[in-house]
Amino acid sequence: MAQQEPEELLELSEETRSVLERNGLRPLWEVEDDFGHVFGDMEAEIWKWADLKDAIDHIEADVPIAELPPGFQRRVTVPINSGMDNAISNTIYVGVQTVSPGETAPSHRHGANALRFTIDGHEDMKTVVAGEEFPMLDNDLITTPQWEWHDHVNDSDQTVAWLDVLDLPLVFDSLNAENVFENHEFERQPVTKTPGYWDSQYRGLRPTEEEWDGEIPGPFDGIRPPTPPFRFRWSDCLETLRQKEENDTPDPFDGYSMSYVNPASGRRPLFPTMDFRAQVVNDGPTEAHKHNATEVFFVVEGEGTTHVEDTALSWGNNDIFVVPPGKGHHHEPDGEAILFAITDRPVFEAFNFYTETAV
Ligand SMILES: [Fe+2]
Ligand SMILES: [Fe+2]
Repeated sequence: MAQQEPEELLELSEETRSVLERNGLRPLWEVEDDFGHVFGDMEAEIWKWADLKDAIDHIEADVPIAELPPGFQRRVTVPINSGMDNAISNTIYVGVQTVSPGETAPSHRHGANALRFTIDGHEDMKTVVAGEEFPMLDNDLITTPQWEWHDHVNDSDQTVAWLDVLDLPLVFDSLNAENVFENHEFERQPVTKTPGYWDSQYRGLRPTEEEWDGEIPGPFDGIRPPTPPFRFRWSDCLETLRQKEENDTPDPFDGYSMSYVNPASGRRPLFPTMDFRAQVVNDGPTEAHKHNATEVFFVVEGEGTTHVEDTALSWGNNDIFVVPPGKGHHHEPDGEAILFAITDRPVFEAFNFYTETAV
């Protein structure tokens, strides 16, 4: 005889059911299976650079930024997880954005955290944030933090491409919150700061932070000092990684791995919702682990395979791949590889939910 499901053993009388329904109530044992299924199940997946490049080249040819709808003038190609509708993961969004020579992605600001990791850069391609122009050289990371005006201005003679990373699915879908948004009155915000201003304010001497004064923050403000506008030059990051490699032992799961820090605090995470690492993996396969945070990787250089349970994701330069939460994974580079890693771990840490185990 087939075993009965608990729900069948606990059948409710018609009268009880009608009382519950009339009052908008359900018993716990019937709703528990409905938790956690608001979004599709994320898959371990990879987007190859050759395919991304093909797509961004086609879109660039078809769609000038100036003809995009006024609300969101960004020409971006977005990897969509096959288990979902709108992003690579339930919390982290990535996209590949291009700006053609002479184009500007107009100035706006919003509540979501965002950064740019340059794929194919140029000295005369500038992301302008909070009044300063930040040149976008290859693999530079530039923050366009919450509530700061930002526009992207290409004064070079080449198309420039970069990885956009935002916490949009967390804001819109998980929190079902508004991403407060405003367009600037000008296409290009006025440049009011000298080059290097923001870096100079967080390198050694720091501005004296004002603690929250108890006032209700406005729509474009928070209750803690935000992440500053900042450019992490790739040449500096690479030097840090090389020194680490020369002098220290690798992390068993992530190789020689360093986190980008919030320049104001000197500590990770860079954003309250997302953590970012640069990592060198070169000592054979890493050990397998799993965690409840989602990880998205961008391959800065090198080739290899990341094994996510039974799925093998084989990657090369500029590929993007995602490791869903709770799935055991390890990296197997062919020689040396450098990865840029994005995780939503700070969200879990904030609520003391973060877990990680070797597998
Ligand atoms: Fe933006
Ligand atoms: Fe991991």
